[in-house]
Amino acid sequence: MTPILPRWRADLRLGTRIAVMRAGGLALALRGDPVARLMHRPWRLDPYPTYARLRADAAAAGGVARSRTGISAVATHETCTAVLRDRRFGVRLADGRMPFDPTSDTERSGAGADGRDASTPTSEQDPTDPGTALIEPIDLSLLALDPPDHTRLRRLAQPTFAPKRLEQYRQSARKVTGRLLDDAAARGTFDLTADLAAPLPISVIAELLAIPDVDTPRFARWGRALGAALDGVRSVRHAHALARATADLRLLFADLVERRRADPGEDVISQLVHALDEETVTLGELVSLAQLLLVAGFETTTNLVGNAVRALQASGSWDDLVADPGIAPAVVEETLRYDPPVQLTARFAHEDVEIGGRRLRKDSGVLVLLASAGRDPAAHADPDRFDVHREQTTAHLAFSGGVHYCLGAALARMEGEVALEMLAERMPRLRPAGRMRPRVATVLRGPQRFPVRVG
Ligand code: HEM
Repeated sequence: MTPILPRWRADLRLGTRIAVMRAGGLALALRGDPVARLMHRPWRLDPYPTYARLRADAAAAGGVARSRTGISAVATHETCTAVLRDRRFGVRLADGRMPFDPTSDTERSGAGADGRDASTPTSEQDPTDPGTALIEPIDLSLLALDPPDHTRLRRLAQPTFAPKRLEQYRQSARKVTGRLLDDAAARGTFDLTADLAAPLPISVIAELLAIPDVDTPRFARWGRALGAALDGVRSVRHAHALARATADLRLLFADLVERRRADPGEDVISQLVHALDEETVTLGELVSLAQLLLVAGFETTTNLVGNAVRALQASGSWDDLVADPGIAPAVVEETLRYDPPVQLTARFAHEDVEIGGRRLRKDSGVLVLLASAGRDPAAHADPDRFDVHREQTTAHLAFSGGVHYCLGAALARMEGEVALEMLAERMPRLRPAGRMRPRVATVLRGPQRFPVRVG
């Protein structure tokens, strides 16, 4: 249980813990530990040389790279695919507890002794206490559940992503992109992230969840705070932003649940409310799932558009897209391989497992470096070259694999294609107009600020 401390004491305790953890990690990074380097500047600004080293280390060590951080990593296409598909790995510990949970008691785990699920805050937990945010930065719903809970919940969300709905979302994505590009063109110079790559997926998600009157800047702020939390909490300020964002989102979704109950529609919340009434989902699970759809659905797609334009400009292939906007789907696939929005994920062994001759003990964690798999020369020829005409012979792992394969993959591809195609058609002379500022993150990668000029 988390006792409620006065705010200043909680902040002090949290600040000290973050500083100690960061200092320890930085010391290891400075001594050359590649896993620690993925978490720290300057190395994480361009993690690809570190991935290459991890692939070499893993090859020398029989498939799994070890690190003094205590976290192992798999870095090749073959080993990443193997771990993602292996049912002996999960996202929780073997007994259902959350990894990295310092309280380590069943009351805070998904499989609580009293049967209560993790997404339901305990009465002792103050959701606005930033200390709570360090322990459970955000409830990641499906991403933090193993079967059978994962299977049950995923089944409920799946119909929202049915192919027949995609066409409807495509029409609205085109409409929104047209409006955003009109506004941007009128200004001449604009921020590709804030003015196109972020508002587009926010509006698609809002349609998916049927959220009325979306306050885009507010959603973008929540998304940034929650997206950054995938790396853990990086400061007291971040912890407060996170606690505020989660509290706001809980209010928003609690309100939506009530509205949908009174007036059901075709959207995912209405389907979940139906399941709630049938008692196949709890209110806590419902709210967390809606929150996941929001974060998973727009921070990632925002990065896809930003990373694509960045790679197109840097490789000189922007003109190829302008000459034939029909290659937008190929540009999306090549971006997902070359510089994916989600760089890595993690799994935990539910029993002793052998990978490439190395034994991983039960409950040990392994980073699955999705972005490294995309640059594996054993899977992709000349992998460090961004080539929009590449024949994709091996599937990239940008959307992960196994039971957690991205639910929104088709939607994300569609949004990326619409944004790139219309951008090339409407702004063929698009050029950078200043320094691109990258996002400060390890898990998510993309431009935070990307000034561009129309021509
Ligand atoms: C380019 C954009 C996107 C990328 C790169 C991406 C990437 C990923 C990855 C890597 C995972 C699995 C993580 C793991 O295995 O631990 C995942 C899961 C998920 N994604 Fe996406 N995603 C994108 C867009 C979307 C969109 C648009 C939505 C929905 C609106 C979405 C919803 C989800 C959900 C619900 C899961 C959890 C699936 C599960 O655990 O069963 N994603 N995504």
